[in-house]
Amino acid sequence: MNVFLTGANGYIGGSVAVRLMADGHRIRGLVRSPQAAGAVRAIAIEPVTGTLADTALLAREAQRADAVVNAADSDDRAAVEAMLAALAGSGKPFIHTSGSSVVADDARGAASVAVFDDSIHDAGSDWTPTADKKARADLDRAILAGASQGVRAVVICPPLIYGHGLGPERDSRQLPTLVAQARASGIARHAGPGRNVWSNVHIEDLVDLYALALAKAAPGTFLFAENGEAAFRDLTAAIARALRLGPAQDWPIDEAVAAWGRGRTLYAQASNSRIRATHARALGWTPRHGSILAWIERNVAPSP
Ligand SMILES: NC(=O)c1ccc[n+]([C@@H]2O[C@H](COP(=O)([O-])OP(=O)(O)OC[C@H]3O[C@@H](n4cnc5c(N)ncnc54)[C@H](OP(=O)(O)O)[C@@H]3O)[C@@H](O)[C@H]2O)c1
Repeated sequence: MNVFLTGANGYIGGSVAVRLMADGHRIRGLVRSPQAAGAVRAIAIEPVTGTLADTALLAREAQRADAVVNAADSDDRAAVEAMLAALAGSGKPFIHTSGSSVVADDARGAASVAVFDDSIHDAGSDWTPTADKKARADLDRAILAGASQGVRAVVICPPLIYGHGLGPERDSRQLPTLVAQARASGIARHAGPGRNVWSNVHIEDLVDLYALALAKAAPGTFLFAENGEAAFRDLTAAIARALRLGPAQDWPIDEAVAAWGRGRTLYAQASNSRIRATHARALGWTPRHGSILAWIERNVAPSP
């Protein structure tokens, strides 16, 4: 297939591109700088220069492609609407990347027993997102409804992603933030008591799910992607061991917010986001990487 991909030089997008090209698909990828164009061309993606604000360009690219994968921004509604409108009636796949902070709470490092499966968007579901995440949830629902406009619209919703990217961008977000903080300060810290838990998925397993969804997900499918979960205090304990530091420490929320910013701290570091990938497994997805803690111990090392 000829696939139009946004976020082509990003962590998820670049990795999806490499995986899809291994299946024989050809990728035209949106980039917004000459450097990014060079980086994607080096791995055989045809660059298309522009931004998500160029809705006419997005519509043109969507129409000339056999499928679209949106991996630049989980929250850009205007860009999504432009691509969905261009695909209306075509039956072509549109795979959108959401993020499981959509179900995150404001736990400030406390544990939670709440676990969500893909039924959150089913008709009759009584799940309601927090006010901060309503726009993302509404966008995911609008995309799933694209099925009724003749688009094979699918939403993939990853949690914390770990592992080295397969494309130009090597690093994900949450785990590298913890590692960078530990390296810089010499103390591995989690926000608050760190008893909060996120599900996680290895990037290589995640991109397998994009390939599977492209091949056979039904219109209107919502797919969580996870293969394990860990408390943040267990992540920082593993980082401390891998970097040969002293024991990991609690970090008062205010200090974490001062270092990382409010949104990044409260949603990406101090919340719970526990999900179960029931639809993905039913589709035949079989993730291979099971333990983020073992990955940290194998891949994080003290600076030389
Ligand atoms: N990484 C995770 O753990 C994770 C988990 C769940 C969901 N997500 C969500 O998935 C999306 C992609 O994440 P990522 O980790 O792959 O991020 P990333 O590495 O920062 O990649 C994002 C890519 O999208 C491009 N981009 C962003 N805004 C754009 C715009 N307005 N116009 C054109 N290109 C634009 C960026 O281009 P530049 O290089 O020019 O900036 C970059 O290539 C984000 O919305 C993120 O919140 C990420």
